Amino acid sequence: MQAIVTGANSGLGLQTVRVLAAEGATVVLACRSAANCKAAMDDVRSTQPSAKLEALVLDLADAASVRAFAAAFLQSHTKLDLLINNAAIMSLPTHFESAAVRGEWSITVEGNRTRRRVGGP
Ligand SMILES: NC(=O)c1ccc[n+]([C@@H]2O[C@H](COP(=O)([O-])OP(=O)(O)OC[C@H]3O[C@@H](n4cnc5c(N)ncnc54)[C@H](OP(=O)(O)O)[C@@H]3O)[C@@H](O)[C@H]2O)c1
Repeated sequence: MQAIVTGANSGLGLQTVRVLAAEGATVVLACRSAANCKAAMDDVRSTQPSAKLEALVLDLADAASVRAFAAAFLQSHTKLDLLINNAAIMSLPTHFESAAVRGEWSITVEGNRTRRRVGGP
């Protein structure tokens, strides 16, 4: 099975990577930086040395990064079985600062929407 997990470097995303890897999936970890991806892969491999993991940088707040992520994935993969749209931000300050609201919307909704529109196998 070929999977992508966004926000793979922490929290629920990292736990999802562990479970999928333990089931034998090949998992692309999508993280905001290569360093975050590497730390997460090292963490998983500390208990699952043969885990099939790959790293690709993805910043959902940046449409160019979303397109670059999709292009890089399509260049080296012919199929995608499972896309876990985990990455998001939440619990921003409750007062309606326009920048904060725009940021939460653009990362949680628009970023994921753009990635799905870019398409794939
Ligand atoms: N935990 C809960 O109780 C709960 C409840 C309801 C829903 N959820 C949802 O479950 C998901 C995971 O929650 P969590 O608690 O595991 O959150 P978390 O620990 O804060 O992890 C969020 C992940 O999303 C990534 N991320 C944030 N902004 C991003 C961006 N612009 N581009 C790419 N990645 C970005 C973070 O990367 P960085 O490390 O670089 O910031 C991090 O890896 C979220 O969608 C959240 O809304 C969680």
